[in-house]
Amino acid sequence: MKQAAAIVLAAGEGTRMRSSLPKVAHEILGVPLVRFVVDAARDAGVGRVVTVIGHGADAVSALVTDTEIAVQNEQLGTGHATRCAGAALADFDGPVLVLAGDVPLLRPETLARLLSDWEASGADCVMLSARLADPTGYGRVIRDASGHVEAIVEHKDCDPEQLAADECNVGVYCFDAVRLFAALERLSPANAQGEYYLTDTIAILRADGAKVEALTLDDADESHGINTRVQLANAARILQHRINRVHMLAGVTMVDPGLVWVGPKVKLGRDVVIGPMCELMGTTEIADGACIGPGTRLRDSFVGAGATVEQSVVREARIGEGASVGPNAFIRPGTVMGPGSKAGSFVEVKNSTIGEGSKVPHLSYVGDSTVGSGVNIGAGSITCNYDGHEKNRTVIGDDAFIGSATMLVAPVEVGKGAMTAAGSAISKDVPPGALGIERALQRNIEGWTARRNAETDE
Ligand code: UD1
Ligand code: CA
Repeated sequence: MKQAAAIVLAAGEGTRMRSSLPKVAHEILGVPLVRFVVDAARDAGVGRVVTVIGHGADAVSALVTDTEIAVQNEQLGTGHATRCAGAALADFDGPVLVLAGDVPLLRPETLARLLSDWEASGADCVMLSARLADPTGYGRVIRDASGHVEAIVEHKDCDPEQLAADECNVGVYCFDAVRLFAALERLSPANAQGEYYLTDTIAILRADGAKVEALTLDDADESHGINTRVQLANAARILQHRINRVHMLAGVTMVDPGLVWVGPKVKLGRDVVIGPMCELMGTTEIADGACIGPGTRLRDSFVGAGATVEQSVVREARIGEGASVGPNAFIRPGTVMGPGSKAGSFVEVKNSTIGEGSKVPHLSYVGDSTVGSGVNIGAGSITCNYDGHEKNRTVIGDDAFIGSATMLVAPVEVGKGAMTAAGSAISKDVPPGALGIERALQRNIEGWTARRNAETDE
């Protein structure tokens, strides 16, 4: 079979979203709509992808840097948009998928099947259709008496009889590229919306005696086009169920899967337990037996086997095997927590390495630091890493003990096995094994409270 190409239509504004963001840049489960479509095409084995951009071109092109770009300066309809990809594919004469950029639930297997049906049937076009309980807004597939696809008629152009048809156009097609671009030359905007409809190519091809077939989706959920934020939320819910189901069947416990949001690229090990109100996004990976949540958000992070992350936010960080985070910790980019380490309640860690078994149990900020193994950081201790101009590093050696409410004024180093006295502002290095103490001597005034009480009672 000839290598296939794909055209992804992503130039529309998406007026019905009522948004300053172009429609295809809206996200479900942390992934922009257009990315789902491009990734599905790639996963179906498509080599060349041309994305047609226009409205919000900068924002959209930044999302599809791995594709070729064609620009549609004026949004004159899906047919016009497809034509705009013509120059990029001028030398191409194989099968071309045309995909709406707002159909995120399409499975790669479906696109692969569309391509193999195209090849096997010898049709000039195979389109995807779906039978929908509520076909409002979709183009209807019109078949002739013998059941052959004759045309697609847009909702706004349908007569009452056509409106009653429940077979809908998904907005996804496989065309012979040469026939497609020839048919696009002949579109007219004489319709309810005054646009050049891609859908009109079906009737044009049929009138020329070309063969057009429809592949009807088994799972109509794949067809959901996103035009409004209500549809955006519905699609997210469908994808949530689809993804969670796969993970649960693979050995993940979700206490309430309706309250767990896992992105499509996230990897989960066996016997991972995820409590309610959790969001696991991006390239997050959770190893076997880790316990996440309740109430936890992880993005682009790794959590090692048997670790616990409770009611916390973790971004671009690595949590080691058996480590414990939270409740109410904020683990920020560049953090690497060693095996068995701990970041407890109201602890923020940024761009720091916390060594094996080291503990930051309560109310601390550790930023731009290298903390060795077996270290204990007392409650309320803070690295003063920012001097108003630069971020400076703190280094704490193995088995050091940082007394409660120590201010570590970076750049500063606390040596191996050293201690700092509670309440000290440490701005000079503490040598290994030494005690760093920075405090005024305490003075006790005998009998003071009795004297004060006597004065105030007078
Ligand atoms: C389209 C189909 C309809 C189908 C539905 C499925 C047409 C005329 N209609 O309608 O039959 O049932 O999808 O979801 O094709 N776009 C451009 N440039 C434009 C116009 C649109 O790039 O000038 C892009 C949009 O960004 C969007 C896609 O094409 O990603 C579909 O456009 P949209 O306006 O949403 O079409 P629908 O009205 O949903
Ligand atoms: Ca649409």
